[in-house]
Amino acid sequence: MKTSAPGKLMLFGEHAVVYGYPCIVTAVSERLYVSEGVPTQDPKFIEAAVKAWGKPGMNFSASSSFSGKFGLGSSSAVTVAALKFLRPMATNREIFDTAYKIILDIQGKGSGFDVVAAAYGGTLYYIKDKTIEPLAISDMPLIVGYTGIKADTVSMIENVAKKKKENPQKVERIFEAIAKLVEEAKIKMIGGDWERVGILMDFNQEYLRDLGVSTQKLEDLISAAKKAGAWGAKLSGAGGGDCMICLAPNDKQQAIRKAIEEAGGEVIDVDTDAEGVRIEK
Ligand code: PMV
Repeated sequence: MKTSAPGKLMLFGEHAVVYGYPCIVTAVSERLYVSEGVPTQDPKFIEAAVKAWGKPGMNFSASSSFSGKFGLGSSSAVTVAALKFLRPMATNREIFDTAYKIILDIQGKGSGFDVVAAAYGGTLYYIKDKTIEPLAISDMPLIVGYTGIKADTVSMIENVAKKKKENPQKVERIFEAIAKLVEEAKIKMIGGDWERVGILMDFNQEYLRDLGVSTQKLEDLISAAKKAGAWGAKLSGAGGGDCMICLAPNDKQQAIRKAIEEAGGEVIDVDTDAEGVRIEK
């Protein structure tokens, strides 16, 4: 038997989600696979899954269709896939709850948005400890550009925490503004108004800049995409590196991909709204 879980991309609401505000995350077509065998990747997470739901001595190997360097969420996907292997009849909720505990034990920080995407799949509106709401979305015209720089999520979360401590009112105001645009993005995504969703990405990016998590390389790729005709663009995830995303009309997609590469990025081909954890044949 083999199980798999998808990677993820944060569409809206990163950082604010850590403090109880909503975000929107989508599962991507790149997957992480787990089967019985010698551990090959992220043994910490597999060992913790075995400790939670397995028997001593069980071993799993993991392989993925994507590189861990992209920041698509290999730790959460491997944990979720391993738990599914151990309890194939478990509900997504049970898998999510146990996997999120494991991630918090090992990493100490995180909203669980990556775990929710790996378990449930699709595109989700998510509020930590409160709401997991699947959104009916189709054909999101998304392009993903990798900066070539691996981000350190935990230290980015710590930077924002420090900023919040220094200037609590300002940072709360930013989070509230982000939450407001997440609500609008949710409605516009369901309605397929991608042009407006793109504009909301631009607004979200401005707030992320204010939080100090963007970088020159992210900005270069974002402005290249926009100059080539994207409706809007933002970083995706913690910032400090990893990926940017943008939304674009069909007739501009090729030009934008080229512009991102010319600006030094690597376009990653992924489909969004992918299936959650599953048993492979
Ligand atoms: O760096 P990523 O892709 O794991 O995204 C982190 C997103 C944060 O909101 C900053 C942290 C979190 O766990 O929600």
